[in-house]
Amino acid sequence: MGYLLVEGGHPLSGRVPVEGAKNAALPASVASLLTDEPVVLHRVPQLRDVSTILLTIGDLGKRVIRNGADLLIRGEGTLSGEANPYSVRKMRASFLVLGPLLARLGRAVVPLPGGCSLGEGPVDLHLRGLEALGARVRAEKGAVTAEADGLRGGRIELPFPSVGATEQVLMAASLAEGETEIVNGSIEPEVVDLVRLLRKMGSEIESNGRTYRVAGRAALHGAEHTLIPDRMEAGTLLLAGAISGGEVTVEGVVPDHLRAFLDVVSATGLRVEEGDGELTVLPSGRPSPVSVETAPYPGFPTDLHPPLAAYLSIGTGTSRLAETIFEHRFTYVDALRAMGGRIAVSGRVGSITGVKGLRGSSLSAPDIRAGAAIVLAGLVAEGETKIGGIEQIDRGYASIEEKLKRLGARIERQND
Ligand code: UD1
Repeated sequence: MGYLLVEGGHPLSGRVPVEGAKNAALPASVASLLTDEPVVLHRVPQLRDVSTILLTIGDLGKRVIRNGADLLIRGEGTLSGEANPYSVRKMRASFLVLGPLLARLGRAVVPLPGGCSLGEGPVDLHLRGLEALGARVRAEKGAVTAEADGLRGGRIELPFPSVGATEQVLMAASLAEGETEIVNGSIEPEVVDLVRLLRKMGSEIESNGRTYRVAGRAALHGAEHTLIPDRMEAGTLLLAGAISGGEVTVEGVVPDHLRAFLDVVSATGLRVEEGDGELTVLPSGRPSPVSVETAPYPGFPTDLHPPLAAYLSIGTGTSRLAETIFEHRFTYVDALRAMGGRIAVSGRVGSITGVKGLRGSSLSAPDIRAGAAIVLAGLVAEGETKIGGIEQIDRGYASIEEKLKRLGARIERQND
């Protein structure tokens, strides 16, 4: 699959644009299953995970036409209610097709998600949500079958504000008969972006804090929508500038979406300037230690935990990073240790004791965000870092080496 070669020790400088958000592109593509009319999406990032979801909906009967960052998704004849196990097992977000297919067809069979080494996370909240809308759900032979003679509105109170479960229920409820209430739903900007798209498609959704009220419709129509910027890519690129000791501006961002992240990096002493739709990190020396806990939005995002850990690993003291969302988040630890990082993990808490410098090594990206953490560490490490498993990084970062190269990084993609 190839690897990335990074030569550390070159401060980055310059401006770099941010792509549309992966985590907005995936549910938006799935939402196209709710209508036969065309759905047009703009600012769609060129990522492996996006290709995976487009293959999935293509297999289900959609015709997808891509032109750069623009996507036209059209209905072509009938929809299939059985998702292709190959594409669905590759990525957890593919499980989102269950609700829309069930709402359209009355029956859907979707394999249980997997693929991501963050673990085959449970989908119990997705299923409970669909059951609240009247679905009969059973799991057998690694797949979920959901059936309903017409979904009807219901009430679901989530014990935890799951992003995926909130999106699943919002989509299914848009085609249910009557009103649905989701209590303790997630309010991540990507969920709010899906709500904006669903409203454009004719769904009536009201939100108040973590409560959503959806008045179901018999049918939805086509829509055109521009995705929000990717706050995870923005945060990662800002940390790339910071860890290299450089000055980097990310363009086309919504600073408010990064508020918790900005509070934390400012507490490390990193100087960040906020402009109109852009953020700049300035050379600031080694980061001071901080104590951080990941949390649902508006808290510190779990997806920026590994890149932050890479930054803190060259800090001046011991930082504490508590993970409350994904228990398998610490997949970056072995790699950073191999590069000279001092990290101890106890349960869901990592203690990162800053070192003066890291050293290059040969490593593999275990998942998207751990892969990003290794790339960041490589930017500051002495010597060369070889990173395999780049297909993981490509799932969530569009041509990461091109963007970093533009900022002056010495980074190359090599094919085996
Ligand atoms: C989404 C994001 C992912 C991000 C995560 C948390 C997409 C495509 N992915 O993932 O990048 O890291 O939000 O912000 O948007 N859980 C259950 N039962 C369920 C659903 C979830 O126990 O039915 C648990 C999961 O195992 C996990 C936690 O809840 O520990 C968070 O999951 P969730 O918020 O649903 O994340 P995703 O939608 O999978």
